[in-house]
Amino acid sequence: MENIKLQNKIILAGGGGHALSLLEAAPLSDFAGYLALAPADSMPLEWLGDDAETAALAAKGYLFHIAYVYSGLPVMEKRRKLIEQYEAAGARFATIIAPTAIVTPNTHISEGCAILNGAIVNRATLGKNVVVNSGAIVEHDCVVGANTFIGPGAVIGGAVTIGDDCFIGLGAKIKNCVRIASGVTVAMGAIVTRDLLEPGIYHGTPLRRYKIY
Ligand SMILES: CC(C)(COP(=O)(O)OP(=O)(O)OC[C@H]1O[C@@H](n2cnc3c(N)ncnc32)[C@H](O)[C@@H]1OP(=O)(O)O)[C@@H](O)C(=O)NCCC(=O)NCCS
Repeated sequence: MENIKLQNKIILAGGGGHALSLLEAAPLSDFAGYLALAPADSMPLEWLGDDAETAALAAKGYLFHIAYVYSGLPVMEKRRKLIEQYEAAGARFATIIAPTAIVTPNTHISEGCAILNGAIVNRATLGKNVVVNSGAIVEHDCVVGANTFIGPGAVIGGAVTIGDDCFIGLGAKIKNCVRIASGVTVAMGAIVTRDLLEPGIYHGTPLRRYKIY
């Protein structure tokens, strides 16, 4: 996978809490503004309108970064649809790597990823639009699928494979070599010691799937 570097200013898709975290990960001068249904008082950037503006802004050469993480029941499918909508409008995505994140030389990062403050990614491979949130650790030889969100403080052991559109909750721990299918949500605090090969939400001790989307 190619390592995409910043080529132009970034427009954030979204103006909520995750957008504010992203602004802690790069200088404000890297951003041209944000798109959202309405302006947000807390955003220190210019509001550029809603998602309908994507195509015109992409044609001007701006890069985008998806700043939405859907909270509550975390259905990453919704985020994927938004990514596809942006792609259809011609958007290319910028990767944002916080200054205090550690990303080792043999890590491969696709476009649109966010690696936030204090995160460690150690010779792993990240698909498009992956989020490694504050303080999370992704260990050696992991492969993380597109649009997967790894929550703050989660620890992913060596050689774990995680599919697309997964949500790994706050502080979850995944044993080395475990395989996780696309569309899995691991609840905050969960300990995963075995493969999770069916999509759905898993939590508890012992871990069980309690909800299927
Ligand atoms: C697993 C999760 C997705 C469940 O969300 P939900 O479907 O809305 O579920 P609810 O909150 O209604 O809880 C359903 C049941 O699961 C239990 N439960 C919820 N999260 C749990 C967890 N992490 N561990 C153990 N049990 C949990 C609740 O206590 C409740 O039990 P009850 O039916 O006996 O009362 C959610 O709790 C979670 O872990 N979210 C991740 C949060 C996160 O990491 N955010 C990152 C922000 S940066």
